[in-house]
Amino acid sequence: SPIAVKKICCIGAGYVGGPTMAMIAKQCPHIQVTVVDINQQRIDEWNSEELPIYEPGLHEIVSECRGKNLTFTTDVDETIRDADMVFISVNTPTKTFGVGAGRAANLEFVEKCARKIAEVSIGHKIVVEKSTLPVRTAEAVKTILSNSTTGASFDVLSNPEFLAEGTAVEDLISPDRVLIGGENETAINALVEVYANWVPRERLLTTNLWSSELSKLTANAFLAQRVSSINAISALCEATGADVDEVSTAIGTDSRIGPKFLKASVGFGGSCFQKDILNLVYLCEYFGLPEVAQYWEQVVTMNDHQKQRFVNRMVRTMFNTVSDKRIAIWGFAFKKDTNDIRESAAIYVCRDLLMEKAKLAIYDPQVKPEQMRAALESVMQDENGELNAMKRELLDNNVQYCDNGAAAADDAHAIAVLTEWDEFKDCDFEAIRDSMKQPAFVFDGRNLLKHADLCDKGFTYFGIGF
Ligand code: UDX
Ligand code: UDX
Ligand code: ADP
Repeated sequence: SPIAVKKICCIGAGYVGGPTMAMIAKQCPHIQVTVVDINQQRIDEWNSEELPIYEPGLHEIVSECRGKNLTFTTDVDETIRDADMVFISVNTPTKTFGVGAGRAANLEFVEKCARKIAEVSIGHKIVVEKSTLPVRTAEAVKTILSNSTTGASFDVLSNPEFLAEGTAVEDLISPDRVLIGGENETAINALVEVYANWVPRERLLTTNLWSSELSKLTANAFLAQRVSSINAISALCEATGADVDEVSTAIGTDSRIGPKFLKASVGFGGSCFQKDILNLVYLCEYFGLPEVAQYWEQVVTMNDHQKQRFVNRMVRTMFNTVSDKRIAIWGFAFKKDTNDIRESAAIYVCRDLLMEKAKLAIYDPQVKPEQMRAALESVMQDENGELNAMKRELLDNNVQYCDNGAAAADDAHAIAVLTEWDEFKDCDFEAIRDSMKQPAFVFDGRNLLKHADLCDKGFTYFGIGF
């Protein structure tokens, strides 16, 4: 008979664990869902009115379920011990040291979770990998769990999350599919029954463990590859007079290609794409497939090139110097409707403009100045984690954080649109133009604004790929 899950523990209260567990709690009133984290501040924020992550619609769900069947706590041991099912949803950043540095995933946090589960569990538990992990991590988790000395028994499942930030709630309510990889049918069915509370059964795909793990890396690699492919074409468009948005539309009507995810941009960001591709590259090399590794690595190379190309075009257009020029940076998040800046193209564009001695006036509707400052500081440090005097001075004196787009643009030589926030479309561009130095340049890294309209209003406008 199927195991009816009554208590779920999720380790890791981040961008994945938080929203996913809130959705399970909302859709399964009969299941007690507890999210644990070692970061007290994060847990306090989840318990407050200002959640640690911004996602449209999330606050409503958390408010509805918190205090009923959704709990956030730092009581890791006790919560694991009480649960029938434990999700591992901790961060798996790219390794910054040792073997595989810059490529392989750092599994330290996952391993610590597995050891903790082995140490405190009693009875039977289903352990679910939610974090994106290299293929065969489940195997390592299983081995650690099998060395538990408490007499507990375990099943391990892989259940990668496909939600995109900014649309997490929508994606969780109606996922294209839910993927569950595992070996034991009873354990797989237990998780199937959780999702079946709101996801149609035909969208619940079950596979073996390794197919599930590899599918997640592959999905992200394909998505990132589409962005790098259209960005590569954008460079050719700029050189030839074709318009990349027209090319996207034209190729997207081919049902084999499809219209989504073909928006040329200043470069993809986010915590997943680069990390997962580098992880795939590392796996290919490890398994003796260097040509396959190089093929995928090129997706990241192209993305880095796109960010550099954007800055180069700005500098070249602005008479080969941006030194001492005020430049408004519109948007810092890696995409709209999130406060997440991990790997955001904005970080690298801002760094490179600062190194050209530009004066940046940055505005993002959801990102806090201290987050931006920390990100810029971290990409400007040397390998010892130190900032030289010149860079510190640039960070201290050449960066201003503004309260809105118009304030950032005031007296600026240029606006660089780096995140496609809706509010940027509705600005009073005539007033903005009048407040700027002339010629008033706009470099639209998202092709967000209306090209013809801005030209009519007297801006010198550049987008991506035309
Ligand atoms: C292609 C384009 O599809 C068509 O739009 C264009 O006008 C001409 O080039 P064609 O070369 O006739 O058409 O055949 P296509 O079906 O695209 O297949 C090309 C090759 O890719 C074949 O060798 C096919 O076997 C291979 N292929 C295709 C795969 O290996 N896997 C696939 O999933 C699809
Ligand atoms: C991605 C995957 O979409 C999701 O399935 C997976 O679970 C996690 O990684 P996320 O990183 O949150 O989600 O956002 P996504 O919408 O995929 O965008 C990633 C980056 O690509 C953003 O910087 C976005 O601006 C950029 N992008 C996306 C483009 O530049 N052009 C596009 O057409 C689409
Ligand atoms: P993701 O985007 O994958 O959700 P985040 O970094 O947003 O990643 O969240 C991961 C969370 O996991 C962090 O809040 C971190 O404190 C937490 N975490 C990491 N290791 C552990 C651990 N051993 N026990 C509990 N929580 C952990």
